[in-house]
Amino acid sequence: MNLLNVVILAAGRGTRMHSDKPKVLHALAGKALVQHVVDCAHKLDPQQICVVYGHGGEAVPKALDTSDTIFVLQEPQLGTGHAVQQAMPHLEDDGHTLVLYGDVPLIQHATLHQMQRVEGGLTLLTVNMENALGYGRIVRNEQGDVVSIVEEKDATPEQREIREVNTGILMAPTRLLRLWLSNLRTNNAQGEYYLTDIVGMAVEDGVAVHTVQPNHEWEIHGINSKSQLAALERTWQQVEAQRLLVQGVTLADPARLDVRGRLECGRDVEIDVGCLFEGEVKLGNNVQIGAYCIIKNAAIADGTQIAPFSHIDSSVVGPDCRIGPYARLRPGTRLHDEVHIGNFVEVKNSEIERSSKANHLSYIGDTTIGRRVNVGAGTITCNYDGANKHRTVIGDDVFIGSDTQLVAPVTVASGSTIGAGSTITRNTPEGELTLSRSKQVTVNGWQRPVKKTTRE
Ligand code: UD1
Ligand code: CA
Repeated sequence: MNLLNVVILAAGRGTRMHSDKPKVLHALAGKALVQHVVDCAHKLDPQQICVVYGHGGEAVPKALDTSDTIFVLQEPQLGTGHAVQQAMPHLEDDGHTLVLYGDVPLIQHATLHQMQRVEGGLTLLTVNMENALGYGRIVRNEQGDVVSIVEEKDATPEQREIREVNTGILMAPTRLLRLWLSNLRTNNAQGEYYLTDIVGMAVEDGVAVHTVQPNHEWEIHGINSKSQLAALERTWQQVEAQRLLVQGVTLADPARLDVRGRLECGRDVEIDVGCLFEGEVKLGNNVQIGAYCIIKNAAIADGTQIAPFSHIDSSVVGPDCRIGPYARLRPGTRLHDEVHIGNFVEVKNSEIERSSKANHLSYIGDTTIGRRVNVGAGTITCNYDGANKHRTVIGDDVFIGSDTQLVAPVTVASGSTIGAGSTITRNTPEGELTLSRSKQVTVNGWQRPVKKTTRE
């Protein structure tokens, strides 16, 4: 198909959300409803994407992460036909225009592609629904050709029996769409400019009206309330879980998985209950994720095990590592092979090389750690002087005794041993034991104080 424009209607108020935020900015799977639609539209490689906004003012254009998109204000909002009209001055006559809805977030590329493949005429996306309440009905003649769409509020009792409904999504030759829109009238129950009235006009003009059905019914579900939003979120999460199961991922419970972004898994990955994946997450072969982990924008290589309740954000974890339980990897963490990070260990903006371990209660920030290093329990890198951050550098084969403070900037040379309880403020020499502690003394005969008794 030749040139394509996409118009996304997003001007509605969304009264039933009971929110100060424009409806289309509420999130599904961690992303604004209308952003889902914009992202899907981009996949069609259109000439132009035009978002019609209104209610909530500039919040919609501000919130969207999008290039090559024009935003047009619809004020006041006089109906779906009026909304598309606002976009027309920005569209060239050549090719087709596809109308999508900012509050119908899960429309899929495959379905739209199917619409694109239909040759010529006006193409409607329709679906047969058991409960068609509230939808515009597709009216066909005896030959089965579409003759019009009638809104529920304007429908006769017989028309209300029709189960084939208008999803709202349609595609039309841009030149004809412009013409039809200019002829819309508001002589209907809602006093609005109905986009759907163009169907009758197409029929009058002898233009073929085609229908296409979506691959899944959930693709055309619109959001009007928080309960519909929650329901569609669940539907989407089930779709994600099924996608992973089909690929061979083991999910302890597909109903207790949340993916807010893109999760890519290798072979024989196991994910326990209650895990949340955000942004772009890549899990290698044989990766195991324990219960209740939160993993965001991270890559985890083959054979690594993440124990329960661990948080990983913007980090790269190498193969065969052991992380958690209760570990926290913050942005800029890069772990090489066979690294162990244990409970209540926080790592930030640090690189840790092969076979090094920090197993208990530590803070490692702005640090480089070499190979085969053991970081004792309770070790803290003091990276912040109140104004600036400084780096700690630890060589290979270092042993850091428990409860050590490394005051950055500082370098612990390869082979160093640091005695437990030390505060290290200067660089340490290679291969030597360094410690900083007051000497242990015993005060012979010292008495513990006793509680005073008062008599009255
Ligand atoms: C519309 C269709 C109906 C269809 C249904 C599917 C018309 C006349 N009716 O009805 O056939 O079955 O969708 O859900 O088109 N919007 C604007 N500006 C406006 C009015 C609406 O941007 O002035 C946007 C809304 O934000 C929403 C969408 O258009 O995203 C649909 O509007 P809505 O009023 O919900 O349409 P329905 O009455 O449900
Ligand atoms: Ca309406």
